[in-house]
Amino acid sequence: MDKLVIEGGNPLVGRVKVAGAKNATLPLMCATLLTRGRCHLKNVPDLRDVRTMGRLLTMLGARTESRGDELWIDTSAAEGVEAPYDLVKTMRASVLCLGPLVAKAGQARVSLPGGCAIGERPVDQHLKGLAALGAKIELAGGYVLASAKRLKGAEITMDLVTVTGTENLIMAATLAKGRTVLRNAAREPEVVDLARALNAAGARIQGAGTATVIIDGVDELAPLEHTVMPDRIEAGTYMVAAGITRGELTIADAPVEHMTAVIAKLKEAGLRFQPTPKGLVVSARRAPKPVTIITGPYPGFPTDMQAQLMALMALSTGSAVFQETIFENRLMHTSELRRLGANIEVTGSTAVVKGARKLTGAPVMATDLRASACLVLAALAAEGTTEISRVYHLDRGYERIDQKLVAAGASIRRVAEPGPGKA
Ligand code: EPZ
Repeated sequence: MDKLVIEGGNPLVGRVKVAGAKNATLPLMCATLLTRGRCHLKNVPDLRDVRTMGRLLTMLGARTESRGDELWIDTSAAEGVEAPYDLVKTMRASVLCLGPLVAKAGQARVSLPGGCAIGERPVDQHLKGLAALGAKIELAGGYVLASAKRLKGAEITMDLVTVTGTENLIMAATLAKGRTVLRNAAREPEVVDLARALNAAGARIQGAGTATVIIDGVDELAPLEHTVMPDRIEAGTYMVAAGITRGELTIADAPVEHMTAVIAKLKEAGLRFQPTPKGLVVSARRAPKPVTIITGPYPGFPTDMQAQLMALMALSTGSAVFQETIFENRLMHTSELRRLGANIEVTGSTAVVKGARKLTGAPVMATDLRASACLVLAALAAEGTTEISRVYHLDRGYERIDQKLVAAGASIRRVAEPGPGKA
C-alpha cells in the first residue's frame, strides 16, 4: 500500500489531459462477453479497476492485450461463467458480467458483491430485471446463479434509478428474443456510451440517455470497436484542483457537455471557465463562495463529485450545505477533512461545512475512491505536509493522478508502505 506525501500551498498551473471514463470502460469490457471475437477499445484509462476487470475476463476465458490506451479483448474462447467472490469483493462493478453471461452463455455464477465503504449497494434491481427477461435466478452461498435458454424481451419498470442495473439489463436485452422496454432507466452519459458501442456492433437500442430505453433483441453481435468517452468525474476533480489551489489549469478533453451540473456549481463558487483550442482553462483567484450541493441521478449533481466539492467548500467564505441522496454512507471523508481543520457538522446524510480560513496538513487515511480524491485536493491547499495512506483507493479510479498534479506544479511524493500488493 502506498501513501502520498503532499506539501500544500502551490497554485496549480499547467495542462492536464482527461483519460477515458472508468465508468464507461468497465461496462464496455463486460459487453465484449456478448460477442465472440476480437474486440478493440480505445482511450482506455490506466486504472487498477480496469486491470481487475481484465483479470475477471481472463478468468472467463477471454484473452486481453493492452498497448498504451488501447485494449484488445478476444472473447472467441470465453466459455467461463463464474465470477468468484475474492475478485468481486474487490470491485463491485464485476456484477456487470452477469447480464452478458446469461444472455450469451445462458448461465452465470456471480458472487454477490456485498456492501462496500459507501453503502450496502444491493443488486436486487439487476436480478428482478433478469428474472423479468426470463432468467431463472437462485441465490446460494453468496452467489447468484442465473440461467436461461434464451432471454425473452419484457416490459420492465425499475424501482429506482441504478446505473449498472440499467447497463446490465440493456446488455442482457440486446440478445433477448423480442422487444424490451426499460422504464425509469439511468440517464448517465456512460449508459449512452455503452449503447453507442453496442449499436455499432449490431444491437438495436433506442432512447439510451432517457428514462425509457427500448431494446429489440438480435441473434448475435459483431466484436466491439469503440473509443471510450472522457471521464467527467476525473475532469471535475481537476477543475476543483484548479479552484482550491487558486491556480489556472488547462483541462484537455473535458466532456463539458456532460458536466453542466458540476460546472454550474463551480461557477457559483466563483471559479472562472475559459474555453480555448487547447482545452478548458479553469482558474480561481480568491476563496470560493459557499454553495448548496444536493446529489442526484444524472443530469443532477453527481454523487461521485460530492466529496471533491466538500474539500473546496472547507475553504469557502461561508456555510455550504451538502445533501447526499444516492448512497447511505458517503460522508466518511468528513472525519478525515476535520483532521485537516475543516469545520463540518453531519446530521444523517446532510453535512454543513463552515469555511475555514485555512487547512493544516496532517496524516489522514483514504476510505474509498472519491474520498481519497477529496483528501488529495484538501492537501494541495493545506499549509504544511499531509500524508494520505491507503492510496490504492485512489489508483482504482484516477490515472496517475500524482504525476498529473506534479506536472502542474504540485509537491507530491508517492512512498511505498508495507501492505497488500498492487493489482
Ligand atoms: C455507479 O454505481 C457508479 N459505478 C458509481 O461510481 C456511482 O457512484 C453510482 O453509479 C451512482 O452514480 C459504476 O458505474 C461502475 P447505482 P452503481 O446502482 O451502479 C441502490 C465511482 O466512484 N441500488 O446507480 O453501483 C444503491 O444502493 C463509483 O466511480 C439498489 O438499491 O450505483 C444506491 O443507493 C462509486 N438496488 C443507488 O441505488 C440495486 O439493484 C444508486 O446505485 C441497485 C442499486
